Amino acid sequence: MVFVFRVCHVLVLVLCLSAAEDFDWTKNDRGSFYYGTFPAGFSWGAGSSAYQTEGAWDKDGKGLSIWDVFTHKKGKVQRNETGDSSCEGYYKIKDDISLMKELKLNHYRFSISWPRIIPTGIKSDHVNEKGIQYYDNLIDHLLESKITPIVTLYHWDLPQVLQEKYGGWQNISMVNHFNDFANLCFERFGNRVKYWITFNNPWSVAVEGYETGEHAPGLKLRGTGAYRAAHHMIKAHAKVWHTYDTQWRAKQKGLIGISLSGDWGEPVDIGNQKDIEAAERYVQFYLGWFATPVFHGDYPQVMKDFIGRKSGQQGLGTSRLPTFSSQEKSYIKGTCDFLGIGHFTTRYITQKNYPVGRSGSSYFTDRDLAELVDPRWPDPGSEWLYSVPWGFRRLLNFVKTQYGNPMIYVTENGVSEKMLCTELCDDWRIQYYKDYINEMLKAIKDGVNVRGYTAWSLLDKFEWDEGYSERFGLYYVDFRNKNKPRYPKASVQYYKRIISSNGFPNQREVENWRKKAIETCSSSNQLLAADPLTSHMEMVTEIVVPTVCTLSILLSAIFLMFLLRRRN
Ligand code: NOJ
Repeated sequence: MVFVFRVCHVLVLVLCLSAAEDFDWTKNDRGSFYYGTFPAGFSWGAGSSAYQTEGAWDKDGKGLSIWDVFTHKKGKVQRNETGDSSCEGYYKIKDDISLMKELKLNHYRFSISWPRIIPTGIKSDHVNEKGIQYYDNLIDHLLESKITPIVTLYHWDLPQVLQEKYGGWQNISMVNHFNDFANLCFERFGNRVKYWITFNNPWSVAVEGYETGEHAPGLKLRGTGAYRAAHHMIKAHAKVWHTYDTQWRAKQKGLIGISLSGDWGEPVDIGNQKDIEAAERYVQFYLGWFATPVFHGDYPQVMKDFIGRKSGQQGLGTSRLPTFSSQEKSYIKGTCDFLGIGHFTTRYITQKNYPVGRSGSSYFTDRDLAELVDPRWPDPGSEWLYSVPWGFRRLLNFVKTQYGNPMIYVTENGVSEKMLCTELCDDWRIQYYKDYINEMLKAIKDGVNVRGYTAWSLLDKFEWDEGYSERFGLYYVDFRNKNKPRYPKASVQYYKRIISSNGFPNQREVENWRKKAIETCSSSNQLLAADPLTSHMEMVTEIVVPTVCTLSILLSAIFLMFLLRRRN
């Protein structure tokens, strides 16, 4: 059926898609590759987040986060895996920075674990100096290596005490606690950090944390939980932006933004007005939910209309979507120095009605749409992640037209693999990066103000409810080995070339990069294949040798005693 949709899609695409003012969709030829370079000073980076990479979950005075508690419950994460030790990034600052230097990164995006520096989440309780020291070291080492830190304040690891005491993001009191935490970060790190991100992907926190319960804290508050959590996160974001703006900006001269995720939604049939509207709704309920308040002061009209109408049909007196007062609207509007965009994939969208029934409503049924994928789209890894590079250009152009061409940093883009055996020759990842980065280059030519790009992620790491089964890293991490060694995948070589050329110089060179990258990865593969041997050798030196020595000494002593006795 998808195929039928697709055929009619392609047919109609040629005839009618020139309606958008700023972006001529007909010129968006999906097949062509654009050779050219990025503007001078374009920043190339890679990213990570605290819970996904640091490990050291209970070390040096760190408090518990909702993810520590969630992963320790059975049945929440694939194979009951946890981030307890993950990549041991907490102990590997220098090793990881040498990987970044190898890539010649301009920036590194990481997040601060709130409970690592404020164990209960409440600043007046206690500040953990050892946690502060860890981030101090990380920042100092990055700067010594001329790598700009881009720091996220909230990448999902809420202090557990705040969840237990107040219900986490369901409670408005989070706004002040988060503001205190952010203020502490500005005070202690702001002399060196010039790029701050308040929230990473609040969509996921709201929907997966409080609506479906797939993520921590695992609540299933269907139809209300996500909207409430989002409402409080938007207010918290605005407050922290104002704190930076009034108390720190003049002295520290940094920028502060938010990082939003968004899939692109393409109408299944672009000749069908209902599909066009459904696709628009898909993007508004995703990216627009957060971006519209931050840039325009209020939720997208279509969200207010749909959720309001459905709430009425359910017999509720007010909408399940909370409202902002007029003071709040003007306080929230314009609280974004730059917009972080996390983007991975695209969906085809068609209109589908979900009448309000006995089972009530949810975020998903509120949208009245269905998502489809083209079976020909490559999907090497995560179930949800199809490679659709042209969707990236469209999303970036959408941001430009909807929000007044803001400064954009791409804060996440990349692809995973799901493999039973180890594979460092990640040809498909090379293809993904090549095509997505190329679409971003086209978007810049369209006039979109993209200033930097962050490959997601530097290392393989804990992938939330999927555990370690999905690997997004440029570097492979051997999680079976307690030292968590890192090995470069072929994509390291390829990304490195894109960075050093600041784009794609010409066809011959670019094709050569791929060949060379694939050649070098086979030698890394051999290194990794030798790894069981290395672990075996470690066991020999750590266990077998000391045991044999002790036994020999004991036996010699017994033998000596025996000889002495016989003489007497
Ligand atoms: C977005 C999240 O911010 C990140 O933590 C995660 O690894 C990627 N999605 C991939 O699922």
